[in-house]
Amino acid sequence: MPPDAIGSAFWTDAFGRSAPLVVEVGFGNGAALAELAKTHPDWNCVGVDVYRPGFGALMLACDRDGIDNVRIADTEARCFLHRLEPGCLHRLLVFFPDPWPKKRHHRRRLVDADFATVAAQRLEVDGAFALATDWPPYAEQMQAVLDAEPDLQGGPAARAMRPVTPFEVKGLAGGRPVVDLEYRRIPTGIAPRRR
Ligand SMILES: C[S@@+](CC[C@H](N)C(=O)[O-])C[C@H]1O[C@@H](n2cnc3c(N)ncnc32)[C@H](O)[C@@H]1O
Repeated sequence: MPPDAIGSAFWTDAFGRSAPLVVEVGFGNGAALAELAKTHPDWNCVGVDVYRPGFGALMLACDRDGIDNVRIADTEARCFLHRLEPGCLHRLLVFFPDPWPKKRHHRRRLVDADFATVAAQRLEVDGAFALATDWPPYAEQMQAVLDAEPDLQGGPAARAMRPVTPFEVKGLAGGRPVVDLEYRRIPTGIAPRRR
């Protein structure tokens, strides 16, 4: 583990309790995270983003709805995941990450092979990794890198429990279908069944 690793004691301290840890990466205005936290008061929910104006929207929603099981990590998502203890996540969510459509920008996409590996390592066994995108080529990239992870099993899935966000509205208005994916962490050493 890195010297700046974030262990379970940190979360127990941050939330004042020990509970299943759920992380949404790139929460934007926080609508999905607020909804998730409200419907799962027994989960410790962490939003990771670098877009500060969105923090206020999420904090206001929590304040308005009396949600006290959300914390915000104002940091870059990939570094954040690398600092977490292996097997600590109950769920990991990435909804509508920036698609970076131009070929020369593809390397900026968040969900790549390295991200898939660190995500798989941070999930507990049977923990879920849910993703959504309205950009079909990015959905294909996500599926390729996640299918290649030996500790993950999954693929296209029913819509995750999430409200319609402005980014989803934009995609639908542009005629782009939304693709939901869900992968689960399987015990190490058990080969996944390919679809
Ligand atoms: C297209 S928006 C989607 C927001 C939200 N999930 C939704 O569906 O409305 C992508 C979000 O990811 C955040 N983001 C992009 N790259 C990031 C990174 N490397 N680390 C943390 N947040 C990131 C952006 O700041 C932005 O809020």
